[in-house]
Amino acid sequence: MTDRKKQFERDGFLVLENFQSAEACDALMHRAVALASTFQLKGPASVFQTSEQARTSDAYFLESGDRISFFFEKDAFDPEGNLKNDLYRSLNKIGHALHDLDPVFHAFSRAPQMQDLVTELGLTDHLLIQSMMIFKHARIGGVVDIHQDASFLYTEPHSCIGFWFALEDATIENGCMWAKPGGHKTPLRNWFRRKEGAGTEFITLNEMDYSTEGMIPLEVKKGACIVLDGLLPHYSLPNTSGRSRQAYAIHTIDRNSVYPQQNWLQRDRAGVKGFFPEPIA
Ligand code: FE2
Repeated sequence: MTDRKKQFERDGFLVLENFQSAEACDALMHRAVALASTFQLKGPASVFQTSEQARTSDAYFLESGDRISFFFEKDAFDPEGNLKNDLYRSLNKIGHALHDLDPVFHAFSRAPQMQDLVTELGLTDHLLIQSMMIFKHARIGGVVDIHQDASFLYTEPHSCIGFWFALEDATIENGCMWAKPGGHKTPLRNWFRRKEGAGTEFITLNEMDYSTEGMIPLEVKKGACIVLDGLLPHYSLPNTSGRSRQAYAIHTIDRNSVYPQQNWLQRDRAGVKGFFPEPIA
């Protein structure tokens, strides 16, 4: 077992500096600007907020699994429902199939160093189920409450692994990620899923509370990759600084695991691909 694999299994996360080039990070951010420029806000916008996601889930969110969809910061609108800033700087994220639908995101997600990394970590059978451009713009970027990614991508057995890329330097001031080494050795607390009838709900799987004790800031430079076990509790604080903290994240699941139909994210299974070219059937 390599040192990186040992470290990942011990800590539940792995910080890899200088993983993507500055040019690749810039290309992704420019692409996000271009995608946002094609989006026209018609009617009520979809807001993304981790703590309120069960309440605020709407059809636009539930249908975003195989699309490129746009979600706004909760504070982006005035009481009349108009954007307070320009549209781009009001976005919380874009998701959830950028890695399959957009060539720039596709290339970044399956870069040669990604293929080497998943091979080293023993994740060659993993499928890229979800991708997100996460903005955290200066001063408006909101909190991401403590959570485990596996709550949102539940599989049996557990298999969710995330790859989080800093497209800009992430610091305590602009809202870097926080996690506790070894925190993944605790059970999955809840499952965010589709409710029978309509909407979504959190189902409690384990009564254990989250704790921020022992959590450390994962301050990283532009181009870093943080690999996250889906059971690792993590969070990030609002960005009250004058510098944005843009990130891109992809989440993967083992293709041999069971992926329940109640999971919020549903895609045409044939559209879900791995890191490597698929064998021709
Ligand atoms: Fe997360």
